Amino acid sequence: MYEIDINLPQKSYPIMIKNGLMDHMGEEIKKIYKHKKIALITDKNVEKLYGKKIIADLGKNGFEIKMIVINPGEQSKSLDVLANIYDELLNFGITRGDLVIAFGGGVVGDLTGFATATLLRGIPFIQIPTSLLAQIDSSVGGKVAVNLPKGKNLVGNFYHPKAVFIDPELLKTLDKRFLHDGMAEVIKYGCIKDKDLFYRLLKLNSEEELFDHIEEIIYQCCKIKKEVVEKDELDTGERMLLNFGHTLGHAIEKYFNYEWYTHGEAVAIGMYHITKKSEVMGITKRGTADLIKEILKKYGLSYILPKMDQRKNIETIGLDKKNKGKDINLILLKEIGESFIKQMDRENIDAYIGRENDDEEC
Ligand SMILES: NC(=O)c1ccc[n+]([C@@H]2O[C@H](COP(=O)([O-])OP(=O)(O)OC[C@H]3O[C@@H](n4cnc5c(N)ncnc54)[C@H](O)[C@@H]3O)[C@@H](O)[C@H]2O)c1
Repeated sequence: MYEIDINLPQKSYPIMIKNGLMDHMGEEIKKIYKHKKIALITDKNVEKLYGKKIIADLGKNGFEIKMIVINPGEQSKSLDVLANIYDELLNFGITRGDLVIAFGGGVVGDLTGFATATLLRGIPFIQIPTSLLAQIDSSVGGKVAVNLPKGKNLVGNFYHPKAVFIDPELLKTLDKRFLHDGMAEVIKYGCIKDKDLFYRLLKLNSEEELFDHIEEIIYQCCKIKKEVVEKDELDTGERMLLNFGHTLGHAIEKYFNYEWYTHGEAVAIGMYHITKKSEVMGITKRGTADLIKEILKKYGLSYILPKMDQRKNIETIGLDKKNKGKDINLILLKEIGESFIKQMDRENIDAYIGRENDDEEC
């Protein structure tokens, strides 16, 4: 078992990572929660695969369970679904002494986190992330949110779970596209902070080999996230490094209405493209963009920037909630494993995001 403690001024909590952890989740929860009532929020896909198993295990440990099942997908991170969850939790008679479990990918985690942060001014919750993205990123660090028609994650807060329980074996049922999607964020950690992780990933030759090392890879990613979040919980400094590839990535996702590219796919293109530009400018060590291209191809991710209206992109980037005033914080690499924040005037962003004549077509 790998264990990491997140230590923040107001709250500390453990992250536990172990293959097969799901088999004794009830026992683990019993160690940190003494009451009986638990509401478990999940989505239909996860419920179908693991619902019976987790309910049986929690029941065996004497818990009284209410399961709330939402539709899978980003559309569920909405105010309507949130209102429904409030309703169901209140019908269950939930109090601030009870517990809610987020059992699913990032959608379930963000939505459950926001519901528990706000209902009754805060109900304790636990994260049991089931997608790769959720296991290495969204379940750690306390960002919780729902979307508005005007944009993603516009209503949110920082609200940390009581614990995060990660069973990498759950990833074996994950659709390949979502596995690759999560790998984009794993690669990102390597790019910004961990050269060894990057080169280890580059050496793996099959999905089987990836799964042989997945426990340790998840541990490594969560450790990086811990370090960054502990230094900058509220995302005003070092935590922004986690946005490497995201400025352009978000613009790509939005441009195609969140229908064509997954988050990870868009971030992958963003990481490669921004590095290619900064390399030409002499900011990044030569050869870095090619290394990123090689690793993206290996994990089934595209690096090719689609044709987009540049003006629209700049507008989208300007609206990103991470920007302050006229300034944009762009994350660049010095080389693999070393990143920094470059603050620039929004008007200068053009040089970093446009297509070049030699860019491959898609
Ligand atoms: N809070 C944060 O810090 C943070 C960070 C990054 C992303 N996010 C958010 O995370 C969300 C994306 O998360 P995601 O990629 O996990 O998406 P998701 O929750 O939609 O899960 C992806 C798909 O995989 C399915 N699934 C999940 N686990 C499975 C399993 N073990 N086996 C089979 N299928 C499984 C889900 O049903 C869904 O269809 C976005 O809303 C994003 O904004 C939040």
